[in-house]
Amino acid sequence: MRQAGRYMPAYRALRQKHGFWDVCKNPELSTEVAMQPIRRFDFDASIVFSDILVVPDALGLGVTFAKGEGPVFSHPLREASTLDTWNAEAAMEKLVFVPNAVHALREAIGTERALLGFAGAPWTLFCYCVEGQGSDDFRRARVMLHAQPELATRALSMLADITARLLVAQVHAGADAVQIFDTWGGLLSPFEYERFAIPALKSICDKVQAAHGKVILFVRAGHHLLPHLETLPVDGVSLDWRTPWKSARSLFPTRALQGNLDPLMLLAPDAEIRAATKRLLGEMGDFKRSIFNLGHGIVPETPEHAVDVLLKAIRS
Ligand code: CP3
Repeated sequence: MRQAGRYMPAYRALRQKHGFWDVCKNPELSTEVAMQPIRRFDFDASIVFSDILVVPDALGLGVTFAKGEGPVFSHPLREASTLDTWNAEAAMEKLVFVPNAVHALREAIGTERALLGFAGAPWTLFCYCVEGQGSDDFRRARVMLHAQPELATRALSMLADITARLLVAQVHAGADAVQIFDTWGGLLSPFEYERFAIPALKSICDKVQAAHGKVILFVRAGHHLLPHLETLPVDGVSLDWRTPWKSARSLFPTRALQGNLDPLMLLAPDAEIRAATKRLLGEMGDFKRSIFNLGHGIVPETPEHAVDVLLKAIRS
């Protein structure tokens, strides 16, 4: 959950010299950034350094990051004619830097550590494509879903097609598993999630698994959706910090679960971090099929020392 990034002084130093997209697109730089947390904290798994918004950028929506702010799209998706310009083959050619980054990172970490690839879920990508920027409630995207369901379905299925290709390319380049980030999934009702999001996710799972990759799905604020994910053939479910571990375990007895400490816990005093970690480890029970992680991205204000405290508590 943002294992590499701004909470690390080494990352901030490198970003002084290189733009964000430049780091993603250069395999040496992306590997260096992905290795920073591995060297500093010795995590068991490494995640490729990239972003979910590489897909809309490759489709021609023009994604930039304003300084210290969220993403901005120069050509957001507002009408059906835009979809006629989307071309999966052309987008995949632009996206070769992603599997290249996975390949370079695999060379750097060896085979002892797990390597994760990732992409955004079609619904979450749709949110950014339509809104053209970050938002708390993505109204435009939700209105488009309600008002133009056919356009939305077409866009979601095109996004699913490219996302599946991108994830399969990462598996071929050496990723053991891929994580799908549905950061805005929680905005949908169960009915809407089943109608719009699940078919797109199902087609992605089938293609990744046919390529012998494992799939982990993260749905932020998705507690009300968890029972509806049961029919999806995902190998693992990554839990938002609000979901009680035990309720997820009873829903998914045979799958891997990942999570789910509140990332803001890392801004608390050491003793509170230790107590919260112990509590969560207690909930995890026998640790079988369990991956300790944060319940969402680590925030830039996190001191590295807090990560040391957390890891020591888990490992002991
Ligand atoms: O180490 C890792 O975890 C891999 C790198 C990674 C990034 N983004 C790098 C990044 C991953 C897994 C992501 C996923 C991502 N990106 C998501 C899904 C997960 C989540 O956080 O919910 C989303 C929604 C995005 C879109 C995105 N990228 C936004 C909204 C922003 C700007 C605001 C923010 O949170 O920083 C980014 C930029 C971004 N992606 C940064 C990093 C390290 C910061 C860029 C910088 O260096 O200035």
